[in-house]
Amino acid sequence: MEKGLMEKINESAEMIKTAVPGFVPEAGIILGTGLGALAKEIRAVKVIPYSQIPYFPVSTVETHSGQLVLGELEGRKVIAMQGRFHRYEGYTFQEVTFPVRVMKALGAKYLMISNAAGGLNPKFKASGIVLIEDHISLFLGDNPLIGMNDNKLGPRWPDMLEPYSRELLAIAEKAAKDLNIEVNKGVYVGVPGPNFETRAEYRMLNKFADVVGMSTVPEVIVGAHAGLKILGVSVITDMCLPDELEPTDIKQILKNSADAEPKLTALMKEIIKRIK
Ligand code: HPA
Repeated sequence: MEKGLMEKINESAEMIKTAVPGFVPEAGIILGTGLGALAKEIRAVKVIPYSQIPYFPVSTVETHSGQLVLGELEGRKVIAMQGRFHRYEGYTFQEVTFPVRVMKALGAKYLMISNAAGGLNPKFKASGIVLIEDHISLFLGDNPLIGMNDNKLGPRWPDMLEPYSRELLAIAEKAAKDLNIEVNKGVYVGVPGPNFETRAEYRMLNKFADVVGMSTVPEVIVGAHAGLKILGVSVITDMCLPDELEPTDIKQILKNSADAEPKLTALMKEIIKRIK
């Protein structure tokens, strides 16, 4: 698999470059479950279904297939994934993260990721926004960088000193303040899913993390390996307080992410405007 990964990335990137000649994205954007509205704000120059891009995974789970949206957001050139991949859908982490590598090959310097997450920190509230300061990947049992390393993609043993760019975090905090949007900061712990966690697991996880979710970590590991500056933002869709746990109500979860979406969209737009 490692043999040829670079060729696959280049082939995908070439296909996209041919479809949108001269387009060099500054930032890649990956949007979380129920948080796709930002993609609609992009003045698209091209929309490419994943099924047309060589080696892109194609979502078989979602009813509508995923697509890449290339265009301008607040005057900045962006490439956004409408529809992302999760390990629990049956993709390997290498497949889940392939689009990040293609974004980098196309020239992206920044990666902005949103996700729906459970709130572990009792101070947080459903529909709240959390800027991710750091993550814990140890429970995933896998890593997208396992296998032969191609030094052209990044170092064999990348450090994780700053997977979430402090510069972008500072921009995000200031933007939130100026827009009067309440945000918290916290640590995201990645879990494989697809089941939600047990009470005992939440009790353990809340000792060292503030939010929990089933995405983002593999993309951030690959993005950090590639030297991208990354911003991660969680929207809390449900609170995970072990002693007050209620049955998961998917309607309530979707309602909570829908409630947060306008704030998140405004914040992300303001952040991208302010990136130097
Ligand atoms: N656990 C894991 N992932 C999640 C949760 C949760 O409680 N809520 C939303 N995504």
